[in-house]
Amino acid sequence: MDRNSGIVVLTGAGISRESGLHTFRDADGIWAKVRLEDVATPEAFARDPDRVQAFYDARRRGLMDPAIQPNAAHRALAAFESRWPGPFLLVTQNIDDLHDRAGSKSLVHMHGELLKARCLHCRWVGVHRGDLASHPPCPNCGIPTTLRPHVVWFGEMPLEMERITHALSTCGLFISIGTSGNVYPAANFVAEARTAGALTVELNLEESAGAAHFHDGEYGPATTVVPDYLDRLLAKAGV
Ligand code: APR
Repeated sequence: MDRNSGIVVLTGAGISRESGLHTFRDADGIWAKVRLEDVATPEAFARDPDRVQAFYDARRRGLMDPAIQPNAAHRALAAFESRWPGPFLLVTQNIDDLHDRAGSKSLVHMHGELLKARCLHCRWVGVHRGDLASHPPCPNCGIPTTLRPHVVWFGEMPLEMERITHALSTCGLFISIGTSGNVYPAANFVAEARTAGALTVELNLEESAGAAHFHDGEYGPATTVVPDYLDRLLAKAGV
């Protein structure tokens, strides 16, 4: 692995599991408790906005619990980014802020961010840690009842796709961490990286639905597998 090669990392809910946040499709996952069609689509928001707001308000309050902290996998990625000489982009499907708090800088939240809101009236987007179900006024235009979570629902376009596609088309290594490979377009990133000639590696608790698309895979809890893999990668590149 040449030290000037570009690296793209994709993370999913599995990387935050050991920080105490639930995944979506594991037995104890979020979609085992509530139907995504009822809380994670534009149609659900149009049909019952208060229910959707309450769902994200509860998750936002949970994320701000002091017990929820970045784990060794988040920290290892932030440390690796600061040491890697070549281009590096971390793309997360997660709407938590654990990568941000761990210190990752070259970071894209392709599904948005739970601690941000957007105004349906003036298009403002910014940090908003309070509940939205209480219809707070938009900090920019002041109109109440116009804020929604700044998250990407099923059927909506993920964020910063041009930046992601460019990084994938020029990378030498693609690493997928803690994702089941169920949701597109993220599930297709491995194919895009392979088309660019990149080596592709899956680091996951167990083989994902897309495991066969990767050149390599290492399996176990992210807090063990990720720091170990990244340390070996730096050593092999002589960094
Ligand atoms: N370490 C590493 N991987 C883990 C761990 C762990 N401790 N615990 C669980 N995993 C793995 C699971 O084996 C699974 O493959 O993390 C993956 C989680 O998969 P999902 O629950 O489907 O989450 P994710 O892939 O992030 O979902 C993608 O779907 O619902 C939408 O928008 C939501 O961003 C989300 C998207």
